[in-house]
Amino acid sequence: MSARLVAAGTAAGQQPWSRPAPAQEQPWWRSAVVYQVYLRSFADGNGDGIGDLAGLRARLPYLSWLGVDALWINPHYPSGGADGGYDVVDYRAVDPEYGDVSDVEALVADARQLGLRVVLDVVPNHTSDRHPWFQAALADPDAPEASRYHFAPPSEEPPNNWRSLFGGPAWSRTPDGRWYLHLFAPEQPDLNWRDPVVAEDFERTLRFWLDRGVSGFRVDVAYGLYKDPELRDNPGSYSPTLFGHGPEQAMTWNQPEVHDVWRRWRSVCDEYPDTMLVGEVCLADLDEVALYSRPDELHQSLSFRLLKSRWETPAFAEAIGSALDAFGRVGAPVSWVLGNHDKDRMVSRFGGSETGLARARAAALLLLSLPGSAYVYAGDELGLPQAHVPDEAKQDPIFFRSGGERAGRDGCRVPMPWNATAGVGFSPAGAAKPWLPVPAEWRRHAVSRQTRDSGSVLHLYREALAVRAEHPALGTGEATVSTRGDVLTVRCTGQGRTVRCVVNMGTDTAWVRSRGEVLLESGPGVHTSAGSVALPPDTAVWIAED
Ligand code: GLC
Ligand code: CA
Repeated sequence: MSARLVAAGTAAGQQPWSRPAPAQEQPWWRSAVVYQVYLRSFADGNGDGIGDLAGLRARLPYLSWLGVDALWINPHYPSGGADGGYDVVDYRAVDPEYGDVSDVEALVADARQLGLRVVLDVVPNHTSDRHPWFQAALADPDAPEASRYHFAPPSEEPPNNWRSLFGGPAWSRTPDGRWYLHLFAPEQPDLNWRDPVVAEDFERTLRFWLDRGVSGFRVDVAYGLYKDPELRDNPGSYSPTLFGHGPEQAMTWNQPEVHDVWRRWRSVCDEYPDTMLVGEVCLADLDEVALYSRPDELHQSLSFRLLKSRWETPAFAEAIGSALDAFGRVGAPVSWVLGNHDKDRMVSRFGGSETGLARARAAALLLLSLPGSAYVYAGDELGLPQAHVPDEAKQDPIFFRSGGERAGRDGCRVPMPWNATAGVGFSPAGAAKPWLPVPAEWRRHAVSRQTRDSGSVLHLYREALAVRAEHPALGTGEATVSTRGDVLTVRCTGQGRTVRCVVNMGTDTAWVRSRGEVLLESGPGVHTSAGSVALPPDTAVWIAED
């Protein structure tokens, strides 16, 4: 029953959810499949080459057809444009490029009619340098707004050794010589959460959007916000470590005070039925990540281990088992992620071309079998590879701040191919060029083509979502993970039924003993004979046990 929505908790004047479920069912977010919409690249409604709310609204029937439960939209706020919208100028408005507040309301209303929930992105660690607070603080060091950021008096050297995650020092100078802190780009000054006005203002923002019917927020950099009060040096230097930040970054991340913020935000959400908070918590220690999802804090924290795992059974088994254990200890569901707007597309991560695609298809079945919620990044359901974006078209500050050493994230942010025309149907006919160039060969990945092809990756996702919705063992319930050589098995049980997801990560066909029914396979060549299922390399199956 994972894909069902719980019974209406509707604001006045709104229609109930179209897919109500029995009241005793667990909260919707615990097992939701959340589709991540990179707004700028999803669908352009007005022809300026930039995705927008009207474009997204027009494509909602596609998401409903696909069968997801909710969408999370990357930031839609007025922005300085320095980091794909993560430099917010006004948290209670909409960037004119995307529409206006009434478009968000219309989106929420249309989505509701289709049984889809809308989750927004909120960015509390930093604002844009064009935010009125920062502007006031720049103009006058004694303005009350100055204490809402981290400023330090003029000096030869920056106050400490902190580094920006995008490269270079985390301190820049103001025109009058002061230092200010930015753990990301210089256009993203970090807020000082020890100033109570900051906390008050964000609670206003949450209510502003919750009052408009949104179902919650994805919380950007939820492991940030507070810094060491004495601004002491970090013990180690930053490197994009495999699983997130650890003790080497102890002064900039994961300060104990941040948990109180999530407790307050949780109590705000508790005033609005069926809403949720999902945090981005990039910490190496999964037990620390799970603490953010204790029962009175964020409802969930995204689990990025799968996203960072190599295509081999020990890595995947460890990623799954450790997340189940860590989140299980705090009673939170795991929120599984295989792709997002910050990482290379999985088809490419898994080796590219046909092999990468076969693995990505198998990984989709794995993702959608696991207990908890699943986050599907727009375009992954089309099997999009990482796009080649020429340097002159790049936009990501990571590329520029690393002097071109790091490729940046543009390649996973290229607009969606909707049809097989030259412009791939991203914009209306005769529109401006898309904001990032779409590779010509992407026409073959177009939604219009894949909807006509029952063997497409798009159909695989759709079927998997439908099967998941029918089988309580998938998405809800419990799971154990095991490996045998190159074969990974996740045994999922729910309401007395068991479904096994078996993935062959090796190079030879594997034989899986089973008397059950094969519910779905990720690729061709799966067949059953004499109580065994033949599983070709880079293929997954769901088997319902008798
Ligand atoms: C998060 C976002 C990323 C952004 C950063 C700074 O990691 O996912 O896209 O650049 O925060 O806001
Ligand atoms: Ca547009």
